[in-house]
Amino acid sequence: MTGRVAVIGSANVDLVVDVDRHPGPGETVLGGDLRRSPGGKGANQAVAAARAGGAATVFVGALGRDDAAELLLESLHGAGVATEAVGRVDVPTGTALITVTPDGENSIVVAAGANARLALTPAAAAAVAGADVVLAQLEVPLEVVLAAAAARRAACLLVLNAAPSRPLPDELWDAVDVLVVNEHEAIDLGPGGGDVDTAVEHLLATVPTVVVTMGALGALVARRGLPVVHVPSLDVDPVDSTGAGDTFCGVLAARLADGVEVVAAARAAVVAGALAVTRRGAQSGIPTAAEVLAALGRLA
Ligand code: RIB
Repeated sequence: MTGRVAVIGSANVDLVVDVDRHPGPGETVLGGDLRRSPGGKGANQAVAAARAGGAATVFVGALGRDDAAELLLESLHGAGVATEAVGRVDVPTGTALITVTPDGENSIVVAAGANARLALTPAAAAAVAGADVVLAQLEVPLEVVLAAAAARRAACLLVLNAAPSRPLPDELWDAVDVLVVNEHEAIDLGPGGGDVDTAVEHLLATVPTVVVTMGALGALVARRGLPVVHVPSLDVDPVDSTGAGDTFCGVLAARLADGVEVVAAARAAVVAGALAVTRRGAQSGIPTAAEVLAALGRLA
């Protein structure tokens, strides 16, 4: 079965510099050459969902009328993402300032730009209404995520990647079917002061399925009333972790839209995320379905 994914979220031009270490407060560090590449959690997740094969993917986002917008559209089209629900606004396309250390760890600051103007236009609402899975993150106004949640069909799953984490209204919590968070975000959204297990237990009271990404350790899939399942990762040499979490979310959403159950979907997503950290760039690092399939055999 082929599903349909609507990804609603940010699109940024990523300005990336390799550094020996991230600068501290008030500090300047010298880095390598500047790289300029397509990014943004929403656009990255749309590219990942489309490259996962199977599900048809549409991106709902807002771009400026500048070179950065063209770079993003080229990448989205190259991956096969439909862009009829991408709006153009009279402010610059979002920009992310990223430093990457030799162990692949990144540090990111985002200037929202056009992302802050994202609205659920009729084209965007139509994209959402036609989806089997709506995948959203939190780099765009909460109101638009809420509007997308309300515009879904009853059978459509809402997968929320709560990144960057922030307090969420009850109306959104009530709508989420699958929550994807990393360990920090899980604790941020938990009851306060606890560990990841405590946070997950707390979150399961509101959301039926919580998936926690844990980098090199893989992911946890927690479903209300069922034992927590640990999905291990591949052993890889990290080069750049930028977009690895987005790769996970996009592949998970694509597999869910195709009717795959959540643990099997998470296995493919973990493998895709692990392959993504072995390559530079957010969208350029996202593997194809064939690469994920070949690597799945290496998963314990
Ligand atoms: O998750 C990685 C992404 O976060 C980057 O591509 C950057 O644009 C920010 O949105």
